[in-house]
Amino acid sequence: MEITPSGFYEILSPRCAVLISTVDRKGKANAAPFSFVTPVSSNPPLLLFAATPARHTLANARETGDFVLNIVPEALLDKLWVCSKAFPKGVSEIEEAGLTERKSKQVKSPSIEECVGWIECQLEFEKEAGDHILVVGKVVHAECKDEFMEQGKFDVSRAKPVMHIRGKRFVAAERVIQARGD
Ligand SMILES: Cc1cc2nc3c(=O)[nH]c(=O)nc-3n(C[C@H](O)[C@H](O)[C@H](O)COP(=O)(O)O)c2cc1C
Repeated sequence: MEITPSGFYEILSPRCAVLISTVDRKGKANAAPFSFVTPVSSNPPLLLFAATPARHTLANARETGDFVLNIVPEALLDKLWVCSKAFPKGVSEIEEAGLTERKSKQVKSPSIEECVGWIECQLEFEKEAGDHILVVGKVVHAECKDEFMEQGKFDVSRAKPVMHIRGKRFVAAERVIQARGD
């Protein structure tokens, strides 16, 4: 079956669906789900998310220069969905979804306590790409709750991070497979 080019990302699935938390210059927090997200460099550690120009997340990252990627467990899927609703700027989706703000270690943007782990970033640069803006951030702190780490490795089976397909369809990643050979 042929896929409409504009919907290509449906078969580039599942993609990690994170909650990106930010704060505006008045100190009001914001959180929204993003699945157009990828690492781009390990040294220096850089990642990007792609946002459409109207996103409050983008406005806040521009205002304060940082943002946090919160890794979402399966149990928080319905709360992630609440955060995707179009609340007015200045309304905290973290509060609306019944989630808890947690002070970040290196950035002004808050993290979300109930999430599995947190990747704190400083805005490096942005670049227009089609109908989205690529927002590249430098990772200044990354942390995972101990209960989701096993012998220094991320325990996906326990964390069950939420991955996006499209619309309301998600995958809870939990089965780890290992490649054979050297
Ligand atoms: C699972 C999921 C993934 C999403 N991924 C993106 C994305 O990568 N880029 C984007 O601009 N919007 C994405 N959205 C839409 C935004 O989350 C949504 O428009 C949200 O209201 C934006 O909030 P904000 O204006 O507070 O930033 C996604 C929505 C969902 C439910």
